Amino acid sequence: MRSDVTLRPLDRALLMALLRTAVEDADPAEVMPPVPGPGGWTPGRRAAFVRFHESRSLAAEPVESTFAVVVGERVVGAARLCPLGTAAGAVEAGVWIGRSHRGRGVGGAVVRGLLERARGSGFDTLFLRTTPDNTAVRALAAGIGVELVQEGDAATAWVDLTAEAR
Ligand SMILES: CC(C)(COP(=O)(O)OP(=O)(O)OC[C@H]1O[C@@H](n2cnc3c(N)ncnc32)[C@H](O)[C@@H]1OP(=O)(O)O)[C@@H](O)C(=O)NCCC(=O)NCCS
Repeated sequence: MRSDVTLRPLDRALLMALLRTAVEDADPAEVMPPVPGPGGWTPGRRAAFVRFHESRSLAAEPVESTFAVVVGERVVGAARLCPLGTAAGAVEAGVWIGRSHRGRGVGGAVVRGLLERARGSGFDTLFLRTTPDNTAVRALAAGIGVELVQEGDAATAWVDLTAEAR
């Protein structure tokens, strides 16, 4: 288990570092909702990435908590916890890691960090959702002892945070 991975609550400076990491080391589709127009990291898409995080987690009334994933002093990705309005006590987790840092245990450390933070914030259930073909997320879920199941066009898991510490 990696001990050099930390989750830092997003602020303006971290958001700019996160944008650089996203542009250099990830595809837009992996890190933000779709934006119409030509593909790639166009100026419009970079601005939309910043607006997305400003509106979701840096707003006066944030809808989710976003964290920069930091390895050593380097921002390598992002993670989030978004309370689910539809299920009391439940929070949805999300994560992306820059391509050049994948497959080295960073995602696994992030999931454990999110579990701890969700539990510490009083949530009793963590919700995971991905596309059915996302084998990396399937492996991340298996790492904390849960199995994704097909739910409509997604693969999901509800993790009981009140059970024995995972
Ligand atoms: C999903 C993601 C966050 C995983 O991060 P990571 O740092 O590569 O994860 P880890 O290195 O901790 O690997 C976790 C497990 O996934 C497996 N894995 C990693 N990449 C994989 C791949 N491309 N295919 C299959 N398995 C993979 C690892 O072998 C490991 O399994 P193990 O615990 O059995 O050894 C990363 O691949 C990513 O950012 N993908 C793009 C965005 C995305 O899909 N986010 C999730 C949206 S819900």
